This record gives sequence, structure tokens and C-alpha cells, in this order.
Amino acid sequence: MLQVFVTENYEDMSVKAAEEIAKQLIEKPNSVLGLATGSTPLGLYEKLIQQKLDFQAVKTFNLDEYVGLAPDHEQSYSYYMWHHFFSKINIEKSNVNIPPGIFTDEQAVTEDYENRIHEAGGIDIQVLGIGHNGHIGFNEPNSSLNACTHIVQLAQQTIQANARFFSSMEEVPKRAITMGMGSILKARKIILLASGEEKAEAINKTLNGNIDTSFPASFLQLHPNVTLIVDKAAAEVPVTPRNLSNRL
Ligand code: PGA
Repeated sequence: MLQVFVTENYEDMSVKAAEEIAKQLIEKPNSVLGLATGSTPLGLYEKLIQQKLDFQAVKTFNLDEYVGLAPDHEQSYSYYMWHHFFSKINIEKSNVNIPPGIFTDEQAVTEDYENRIHEAGGIDIQVLGIGHNGHIGFNEPNSSLNACTHIVQLAQQTIQANARFFSSMEEVPKRAITMGMGSILKARKIILLASGEEKAEAINKTLNGNIDTSFPASFLQLHPNVTLIVDKAAAEVPVTPRNLSNRL
């Protein structure tokens, strides 16, 4: 079931999300959290740091990583997580799980990540952002979606968009490792965050669109416990030629 919580702005979205995580950690201090990168959850991480919550017994699993980037590469998601969050809370390094960007055996690395989630007892709360095209993690729109952790080829559009962060085109990652939609949907609770009018169409489709691999976030409709925490701008149904007639 999808629930929607609309906040006034980005700040309030982050506060509300932090409250949900704090509640979870008070109820279960050794919770397993699924975490996301991108610009959207930065405010949430800031709030969690400010609250000085106890992460001593918490385990985390990140959604994805670029293939080919070492953890100390400034564009890696590992670097992002340590820089913005983990270095500022009392989490045990051994409790942090991020898919590795450097590996030799594709099958072994993806199976190992799935197994580790399973052995940790599964994810209690999975935090998600959403792409304009409905992507979740690196599960991009496709004719079929892989359920488990897997390697994806990045779309040319994504590679080009990322080029600005690298000194040459050769350095831009062409592949990523990501939890699959099945791994994500196994989480006991899911919190999806979105802010800004540019996410409004994606939020509308997540809530009201057909469940279809061409819009991966639509699969969240199948989950029993999803809360969308979105600011007012992202909650506004955009006026498109398709829905304009309904409004008149
Ligand atoms: P954003 O990215 O938080 O930077 O908007 C979200 C995503 O693409 O999944």
C-alpha cells in the first residue's frame, strides 16, 4: 500500500524522513537500513547526524555503485556515503555494506551482496530516491527488470550526464552494480523521498501509473508498506495534455 505524506518543502521532507528512521532505531536499535545516494537524501543524512542517534548496532546496505570506481574515488557512492554520513555517526565500519565497484567475478559479487542482506535478516527500512524516468537505484526503464542484485550497462544519456564529473570520457563509468527491484521490494518498509516540481510527474506515475517495467518505481504499488515523503512541489500533479481534460 502506498501512503503519501506531503511536506511544505525540502527541509520538512528531510525532517519527516529522519523522524521515521529515528522511530525505527528506537524500536529496534540493531535495525538494517537500506540507503540511497543522490541529492535528495542529503538533508535526511544531515538531520540524522544532528540528532546524534545511536548507530552502534545498525547495519546498512546501499542500493548501488559505479563499476570500476574504487571506494576512495570522489565520484564513487562509497565516497559519498562516508563523506556525507558514515564518518559523522557512530556506525561500525564492518556494519556498512556498499556494492563494490571493483571486482573480478560478477556472479560471485552480486550473489554475495544478496546473501549478505539475507544473513543480516533483511532490510527494515529502505530509503529511496527516484529518477525522472522512474528509475530506482540503477534499475532503469527496460523491457524486463532483474529482481536481484546485478550489473547494468548505463544508458548513453546517463554516461554523458556524468561526464562533467570526470576529467575524460574514458573515465566515466559505463556500468553499475545495483540491487534489483526484487531485492528492494523485500524490504519490510520503504520510504521514497522526492522534492521539487521536476519530480512531480514521476511521483504521479508512481502512484497512479500502470505497473510496468518501463517505469520501475510503479512496482512499489505491489509493496504492502511504502510511504512517499514528498514536498508540495513534487506532489502537484503536473498538467499534461493527457490529464488537462480531467481538470476542466
Ligand atoms: P537525485 O537522484 O536524488 O539526485 O534527484 C535520484 C535518482 O536519480 O535516483
